[in-house]
Amino acid sequence: RIVYVNGAYKRYAEAAIHAEDRGFQFADAVYEVMEVRGGRLVDATRHLARLNRSLGALSISAPMSNGALLHIVGEVVRRNRVRDGLVYLQVTRGAGPRNFSFPGLEIFPTLVVLARSQRLGWADELAEHGIAVKTMPDNRWGRSDIKTVMLLPAVLAKDAAHSAGAHEAWFVDQSGAITEGASSNAWIVTPGGVLVTRPLDPRILPGVTRATVKDVAAAEGLKLEERAFTLAEAIGAREAFVTSATNTVMPVVSIDARQVGDGRPGPVVRRLRSRFHELAE
Ligand code: PDD
Repeated sequence: RIVYVNGAYKRYAEAAIHAEDRGFQFADAVYEVMEVRGGRLVDATRHLARLNRSLGALSISAPMSNGALLHIVGEVVRRNRVRDGLVYLQVTRGAGPRNFSFPGLEIFPTLVVLARSQRLGWADELAEHGIAVKTMPDNRWGRSDIKTVMLLPAVLAKDAAHSAGAHEAWFVDQSGAITEGASSNAWIVTPGGVLVTRPLDPRILPGVTRATVKDVAAAEGLKLEERAFTLAEAIGAREAFVTSATNTVMPVVSIDARQVGDGRPGPVVRRLRSRFHELAE
């Protein structure tokens, strides 16, 4: 398998990152995960726009133009013969003697791009039954809208969820509202049939899948309210689901071991899932 690191396509065993890379020492880095389907990138434009937003928010210079970046991503996909799978792309501020404050202009951002195959349909099998989620306090920093690699709270939350037999963790803010999943955005369908998801704010990642699902919902004529919802409202919802590049639209059938709706994926989530790739770019 081949990985792109700072200008070269290498075998994993031969690829190297500087030992004083700021991504390694400070999590001073951002990333993107994109779906590859039938050899094509899904929603690449939105992912690159968000990457540039994340870089800008942290004053990390873009390693290259979007066009050049897309060329490299395409090459990594091709060289790894990925038809269906994922691309992971990371940009760090670069390497330099350890120092909290930003180094000067003398350092260059580090760019890593890798791609991995994933059997088409594995998420469909999961989606057939839906997943369980477990809630926990949102103990992340105040800028969850930036896609940084500072993921330890999400790693711990996901592990706690797995230990409890759940597939995803849902974070809850101090007001009792759900913010988002450890690696997904959270949605419900009210008993009245209205889609609800939290509006964009600094506590959640502006999900690319979230944006495309909004398009799908509009195309389907579904009513959508962007507002915060509580754990109690989610448990009393008719349907619940999460969105992410890795799983697109994934039904949630239980929250903290309490059944949502009839405990099976409902018609709205099924419809959004089946139409997703028609509207994704
Ligand atoms: N995670 N919220 C968080 C905290 C996330 O980490 C992600 C994605 C999302 C969904 O965003 P998108 O629809 O753009 O994938 C929401 C990726 C998949 C990951 O870390 O693997």
